[in-house]
Amino acid sequence: MSSIIIYGSHYGTTKQYAEELSRRTNIEAISFENVKEINDYDKIIYLGGLYAGGVLGMAKTLKKLNNITNKTIILATVGLADPTDEVNKNNIRNNIKRQLNKEIFEKAKIFHLRGGIDYTKLNLAHKTMMKLLYNTVKNLPEEKKTAEDKAMIDTYNKKVNFTDFSNLDRIINEI
Ligand SMILES: Cc1cc2nc3c(=O)[nH]c(=O)nc-3n(C[C@H](O)[C@H](O)[C@H](O)COP(=O)(O)O)c2cc1C
Repeated sequence: MSSIIIYGSHYGTTKQYAEELSRRTNIEAISFENVKEINDYDKIIYLGGLYAGGVLGMAKTLKKLNNITNKTIILATVGLADPTDEVNKNNIRNNIKRQLNKEIFEKAKIFHLRGGIDYTKLNLAHKTMMKLLYNTVKNLPEEKKTAEDKAMIDTYNKKVNFTDFSNLDRIINEI
């Protein structure tokens, strides 16, 4: 059975998870931009950074799949917000559901990892987006703030890294 790890990463945290997973499983890891023929693989492990609820590169990559009957699909998101927070987890899953066709969504095993952010490294578009978001959520009443809002307020303009490779164990068990 041929397997592949595909990742979508702007600033490297998802890439680091993908490369560590590759090292531990001996499965090749490549960026979604370099995937040639996804239908050649039986087991697809997709790791993507979360950007405004979207999983970087995921929809574009998985829509190229023709027949998934005999395939295994594992998805892992990498975001700033705490993935152990149930509301956050549900939001991420609902967003994924909207980005994939029903068959792929129902077949996929989904995991969540935590990444990081370094504001000094963000491009102008991302900096502007975060500023707008921050200004929208910072004055919300405490009870209205989601885990995502809190993560963004706590880390705004900072450099933080919540990467924890031990959380790859659950994905490795699934593989
Ligand atoms: C413009 C922008 C939007 C983001 N949106 C989300 C989000 O919706 N949910 C979340 O948990 N994290 C969000 N993040 C944080 C990233 O998911 C986090 O930095 C992740 O580690 C990025 O992965 P990468 O380093 O592989 O690109 C966002 C970050 C930026 C810059």
